[in-house]
Amino acid sequence: MEEPLVAVDGLRKEFRQGFWMRRVEAVRGISFEVRRGDIFGFLGPNGAGKTTTIKMLTGLIRPTAGRAWLFGSPVPSPSAMKRVGFMPENPYVYPYLTPREFVELCGRLSGLGSRAARERTRHVLDQVGILYAADRRVGRLSKGMLQRTGLAAALVADPELLILDEPMSGLDPVGRKEVRDLIISERAQGRTIFFSTHILSDVETLCDRVAILRRGEVVVSGKLGDLLRREVKRVDLTFEGDTAALERELAAEGAVVRRAGDRLVVELEGAANVEPLLRRALDRGLSVAEVARKHETLEDLFVRKAIDEAPLSSAPPPGALV
Ligand SMILES: Nc1ncnc2c1ncn2[C@@H]1O[C@H](COP(=O)(O)OP(=O)(O)O)[C@@H](O)[C@H]1O
Ligand SMILES: [Mg+2]
Repeated sequence: MEEPLVAVDGLRKEFRQGFWMRRVEAVRGISFEVRRGDIFGFLGPNGAGKTTTIKMLTGLIRPTAGRAWLFGSPVPSPSAMKRVGFMPENPYVYPYLTPREFVELCGRLSGLGSRAARERTRHVLDQVGILYAADRRVGRLSKGMLQRTGLAAALVADPELLILDEPMSGLDPVGRKEVRDLIISERAQGRTIFFSTHILSDVETLCDRVAILRRGEVVVSGKLGDLLRREVKRVDLTFEGDTAALERELAAEGAVVRRAGDRLVVELEGAANVEPLLRRALDRGLSVAEVARKHETLEDLFVRKAIDEAPLSSAPPPGALV
């Protein structure tokens, strides 16, 4: 099998903080691999240790213990970093440059010639949707536009591997969808993408593989299709008509019911009770607006693994946020 583009083995990072130099274990011995061509989601709530791990991978800080490789070279590896496009969390962009100047500068620093840097800059600014603002001062751009400028800078030197720390943060739903589409199209052009996010619901349809971090530990990792339980978790039945009597009856029986406008939604565990309820509702002259099978989501999976199945002894580390 081909060598993974990113390999992490037992990586750990401990910070010393404050006057008493209190220990904060930000990353507590994690391991995972990213293979060529994958969209890999590095997920977990705020404070889980994602940025700390990415900083160790990109050589910005040194691990306390454990090892990591990029393209088979132990980190820090300047030669491997030439094949990486990196967007840090809250990318810093020089306020007195324009996006065009900043991205072109990043291209030159990555070794592009002046003509190639100019042409690639135009191309990537167009791709991330801010060519129209290419010549404004960065200091006057919105958070979303800064984020896009950071993305363009990561893309400019045509890297094999993109490492993006929270590329969707600070964007509205449309902006987040655009970043998702961009990630998909970059992968279609042969790039491998490793990105972090704390918004699990955004990435469900995007990732091939994920590692979910909590308090510095990987609680779930693997191929998304294998991880999510494929059986139907719940069936939501929506009824229209004079639903008041049925609602009262079901509530008295302890069923989970809710209203959606003038419709009645009944949430059934498993699929076995669907037919009897349908029959009951039709007998009363109600009409069926929708029958929706609900499968497990990434958020459900995280809750199941991190909270339900976590051993009681796993006390939070000192300084942990979540
Ligand atoms: N330089 C630092 N000094 C002390 N603690 C830090 C430092 N950087 C991060 N931490 C702590 O490490 C933990 C993980 O942080 P981080 O990696 O930024 O999480 P994430 O990116 O998943 O939100 C947090 O508890 C954070 O407060
Ligand atoms: Mg972070």
